[in-house]
Amino acid sequence: MPDEAAIRADAAALLEQGLRNLWYPIAPSWQVGENPLGVVRLGERIVIWRDRNGVAHALEDRCPHRGARLSLGWNLGDRLACWYHGVEIGPDGTVLDVPAVESCPLIGRPAVRRYHCREVRGAVFAWFGDALHEEPAELAPPEPLADDRFATMLCIATWRCNYRYAIDNVMDPMHGAYLHARSHSMARGNRRARLRIVPTGTGFVCEKEDQRNVNFDWVEFGSTGSQWMRLEIPYGREAGPGGAFGIVGFVTPVDAGTCQVYFWRVRKVSGWQRDLWRFMYRLRLESLHWDVLEQDRVVLEAMAHDARDHESLYQHDTGLARVRRLMAKEAERQAAALAEDSGRSRLNDGRHGREGAGAGPRSPNASPAGRGGRHETDYNPWLAEPRGNKGDAGTVENPGDPELLRWQTRSHRPTAYENRLADALTTIFGEEVCDLAGIVVRLNDAGIPDPGGIPWTEAGFEAAMRRLDVP
Ligand code: FES
Ligand SMILES: [Fe+2]
Repeated sequence: MPDEAAIRADAAALLEQGLRNLWYPIAPSWQVGENPLGVVRLGERIVIWRDRNGVAHALEDRCPHRGARLSLGWNLGDRLACWYHGVEIGPDGTVLDVPAVESCPLIGRPAVRRYHCREVRGAVFAWFGDALHEEPAELAPPEPLADDRFATMLCIATWRCNYRYAIDNVMDPMHGAYLHARSHSMARGNRRARLRIVPTGTGFVCEKEDQRNVNFDWVEFGSTGSQWMRLEIPYGREAGPGGAFGIVGFVTPVDAGTCQVYFWRVRKVSGWQRDLWRFMYRLRLESLHWDVLEQDRVVLEAMAHDARDHESLYQHDTGLARVRRLMAKEAERQAAALAEDSGRSRLNDGRHGREGAGAGPRSPNASPAGRGGRHETDYNPWLAEPRGNKGDAGTVENPGDPELLRWQTRSHRPTAYENRLADALTTIFGEEVCDLAGIVVRLNDAGIPDPGGIPWTEAGFEAAMRRLDVP
């Protein structure tokens, strides 16, 4: 007989740290360079790194020898080498070499947990399967991330609250009219509404019954290999072509008291309109959006960790209540399946290595195709160039780093020219001139010179965007 109380406790623990059997974004692509990066996600230490072909990999951040963090070690192009005694680990978690001894039974053993990775729109996603789901499910990103006709810009922040508060926050359209009432475009529309749930094929929409296309009026929750939320905020004409401003959000637990929010800002624009939109976003809108996000962060971080245990929910909380039910059900399902499989909970079991599973012993010299530069067997921690200076080795992310708390992709101080251009464009859009020829005529009339001597063309807008170093 399964122990119901134990399953409930395991399910609660799962919910606290993050549901399993899902893909989660774990880092922006630009943060994962050549050097290994150590992070904590869902309470687990993970090292993220790129091989010499630029492919991102993630492993449990624990050397199988004596437990040093692999993220403090070296990237050898097709493997990581531990800083402590040089043990080498391949992308699948197999020990490839133990250079400090002549021969070692560790070699060939899959001793480190591997996290399957995929990169989507500038973020590295990792699969967090439980012991029954080590192979990843399909990751089907929501439409704006999957469809090239959408332009996206990723913004990430680290918030000091349990991840469920961040999900509740997005699933609550009503807070826009209060918390953000003085910000940006959020003051419009009714401050009172009834909300309803409309099921979709992959989740549901929570929407205001009698207001649409005015403000933050609806939010969609989807579960398609990953859990995401999507909403739109209508834009005025002055925001230019592209229609409503969309947000696609994911929340990744760091630990029980910290999470990362990944918000893609999206608009359906292409060609020169896309360049122009990115230019305007970077110059004018990004700081406004950060102001709004900061309001969310301040409120959530100030809530007690157990605020959810002392609530009085009412009608407009229907969206977040629905998500909580879905997640609680899934947590119980996962906990029950694990309990049934093993006869005991495997939750909080730190030993993720599946020794003996899959690959058998391999030659440490088995060389993957496409190697270049330093060969792994050339590496000898004693003979290699001095590495006392850790400058080119890995780092461990510090979630307390103020940089991470409010992580602007770039802090740009617009030049006088850029400000003049943005003002002119806002006026032009406000007059509904959204074709390139009309914009060029207006800019010429206004005496706004083209950027960098490139005539006002599609290339001109591209150049303007590049000057802002938009990734
Ligand atoms: S702890 Fe990593 S090689 Fe010893
Ligand atoms: Fe908000």
